[in-house]
Formats: sequence, C-alpha cells, structure tokens
Amino acid sequence: MISAVRGTRDILPDQVERWRRVEEVARRVCSRYGYYELRTPIIEREELFSKGTGESTDIVQKEMYAFDDKGGQRVTLRPEATPSIVRAFVEHSLEQSLSVAKLFTLGPMFRYERPQKGRYRQFHQLNVEVFGVAEASLDAEVMEMACTLVGELGIDESELVINSVGCPDCRPVFSEALLNALGGDLSKLCGDCQRRAKTNPLRIFDCKVEADQSTIDRLPHSTDYLCDACRGHFEAVQRHLRLYDQPFRLSHRLVRGLDYYTRTTFELLSSKLGAQNALLGGGRYDGLVKRLGGPDRPGIGFAAGLERLVLALPDVNDQMVPDVFVAAIGSLAQDAVFVLARALRAGGLRTLVDYEARSAKAQMKRANRAGVSHVVILGDDELAAGEVTVKTMATGEQCKVARDKIVDVLLSAS
Ligand code: HAM
Repeated sequence: MISAVRGTRDILPDQVERWRRVEEVARRVCSRYGYYELRTPIIEREELFSKGTGESTDIVQKEMYAFDDKGGQRVTLRPEATPSIVRAFVEHSLEQSLSVAKLFTLGPMFRYERPQKGRYRQFHQLNVEVFGVAEASLDAEVMEMACTLVGELGIDESELVINSVGCPDCRPVFSEALLNALGGDLSKLCGDCQRRAKTNPLRIFDCKVEADQSTIDRLPHSTDYLCDACRGHFEAVQRHLRLYDQPFRLSHRLVRGLDYYTRTTFELLSSKLGAQNALLGGGRYDGLVKRLGGPDRPGIGFAAGLERLVLALPDVNDQMVPDVFVAAIGSLAQDAVFVLARALRAGGLRTLVDYEARSAKAQMKRANRAGVSHVVILGDDELAAGEVTVKTMATGEQCKVARDKIVDVLLSAS
C-alpha cells in the first residue's frame, strides 16, 4: 500500500459535509461583509514569501516546500496566502477598480511543520484581506466578522486575544528596550531565542521552551512603547470592539510569527483544540503592499484554519442520506428501474438502484442499510399497469401509485 504523505490527510465522505458547512458559512459571512472571492495559484515564486512573509520567520527559514522547477525557476508551494493576495492586488492594479478592496480566498497551504492534532503539512485556510483603509474601525470590524463567522458555525467558548506590535517608528525603540532588559540573560535562553534576538527580538515572545518562560515573563511590553499614533490607534480599536459588545483579552505576548505585522495583531482561541488552539489569526500590515511593489496602501486581514474550524464544529447529524431505493422484481423490470431512477433523480430525489439483479430480499436489506425513507418497487405486473409500489420504511405501509405521479408523491412525503 502506498500511504498519504506525512502531514497530509484525505477528507473522507463522512467528514466532507462538515467541510462543506464551514466553507458555505465562510462564503456567506464574507459576502455579507462585502468581500469578493479571488483564487490565486498554489505555486508562487519563492521570493514572494522571503520578501512578504519575512526572512526571519520560521516559515521562510524552515518550512517552505521550495524547489527549482524544470526551467530552473525557484518556486514554492504557498505557505500562506497573504503575500499571494497582495501580489494579485498589485499585479492587476485592483486599487483602480476597488477603492477599498475586500478580498477572500479559500484553499490549501503547505508548511513543513511537525504534524500533530490541528497541525498539518497540507492544511486549508480561509483568508480575508482588506486594502486601502487605515482606520481602527476596520480593525474592529474585521475581528467582529471573524467572531461572527465562528459563532455562526456554532463554535462557542472562543476567546479573542489582541495586541499591538507598533510600527516601524516605535518598534525599534521597543526592540532595543527588550534587548537591554534581557542583558546577560539572553545567553541563558534557547538557541531559537538567541537567533530571534538578532533578527526580530519581538519574536522571543513566541518561545514555548519552559525554562525560558520566567525570563520572558519579566520582559517589557510592546504596548508600553507605542508611539502616540499607534497608542491612539490601539485605544480606538478597543473602543470599537466595545461598541460591538465584543469581549476580548489583551496579551502583550501576541506578536505572531510573521514579519509584516504593524499595530494590531489578534487571534481567536478555542479551548476545544488542545495545544494548537488558534482557530484563526491575523493583524494589520500597513507596509506590505508597498514592499511588494504596489502603491502605499494599508492592509489588514486574518486567516482561519479550516481543519481547526471543522474540529471545533459541534456534532450534528449531517450525513447525506439517500431518499429512495428503486427495487426491481422480475426480469422485465430489471431494465425499467434505471429509467425510473433517472426520472426520480431529475425530480430532485437522491435515488439508489440495484445494479446486480439481486433477490427482492437482498434489495430490501440494502435499502434498509442505506437508511432511505422509501422504497419504490417495480415488478413486471406494475410495469404492465403503469404503476409502482411505494413502501414507507418507517411504517412498513405499502401503496400503489401511478408511475407519472411518483415524483410528486415522494416529494410531498419527504
Ligand atoms: P497564521 O497564524 O500562520 O497566519 O495562520 C492562520 C491560521 O491558520 C492559524 O490560526 C491556524 O488556524 C491555521 N494554521 C496555520 N498553520 C497550520 C498548520 N500547519 N496546520 C493546520 N492549520 C494551520 C497566516 O497565515 C496569516 N497569513 C494570516 C493573516 C492574513 N494575517 C493577515 N492576513
């Protein structure tokens, strides 16, 4: 047997309905908030992510499925969609047709991470991005929309966590304060933290190594070093969240693992997921469109992990059950059932049919196992009389129905 690649998963029929529910609600909510769907390629130039996601990130340093294609071009499977959406926005000059561009996309991402529950090497995201608005009211609307989406999926007990990581003016001051506060303790932190101290000191807050935590807990907070403009923005974001009565928690450790964030960062956490507890995460990235060669447009967005939404979804009985089984009894009816099944399907009924000319008993057994509500029996006599027999499985009752009335009768019964 050749098994699936480690970290990838088949989504089997008993799970697909849950996926479809998540995708349908995602599309519905995005459309209500004015977002247009776009679809970008799964394969992109590697430099899009080294420039966009950032050289210092784990994604770019360790996790990309990058390779030279047969023409010698360096490409990668996309590890995230934000740089791709920015690229498409810039490449197609979407700012000319959409003064406020609200865009969303659904699709697979690829990261070479250590697989565990809720963390895969191929996973799927809903990505939501807005270009062209710098106001804090949008930050709050994006977060409120994320919470609405999760609420409409019936996922309760989620917690919105927010932070501000400042801007290119105030962040260097904070980074320096961090390094000063660490002083000689830096050499006691893990290797990753020592690397982060050189490339992006804020990311020290991402460290999960137990032994480092007491040192990290003593470090200063980004929100104490915000410039006036960033502080005003962050206060306005919180004021707007309160307008929505949206509960949230401040966490100075929420720096997020991507280099492009400015000001607001946020995550929605679920207690139902275990260690990988972020249903979604995002933030503002005001310099990214310009860095990737576009106009100087602010941006904000988030991505939700579809596997995690599916995992956190409450159980409901949403298996697709066929409506009708068409059973043939007698040699003449064997062929006629296929034409009858076509008529039932054309009428909108989910219809099963027996292909193997089995006994009446075997066909009834199969109908029972499939869970249909009705069996339509077509025997040679019924065929001659232009009728069928309908058996209601719940009661066992049988009645004769004219063949040209059968779709209406079954539709009104279901
Ligand atoms: P991210 O935090 O890397 O952000 O991913 C967002 C979400 O994708 C996570 O909260 C999680 O639900 C899901 N996710 C990430 N990695 C995995 C994985 N290996 N397996 C399963 N699920 C995963 C971004 O990707 C940014 N592009 C979000 C963003 C959009 N920021 C602004 N706009």
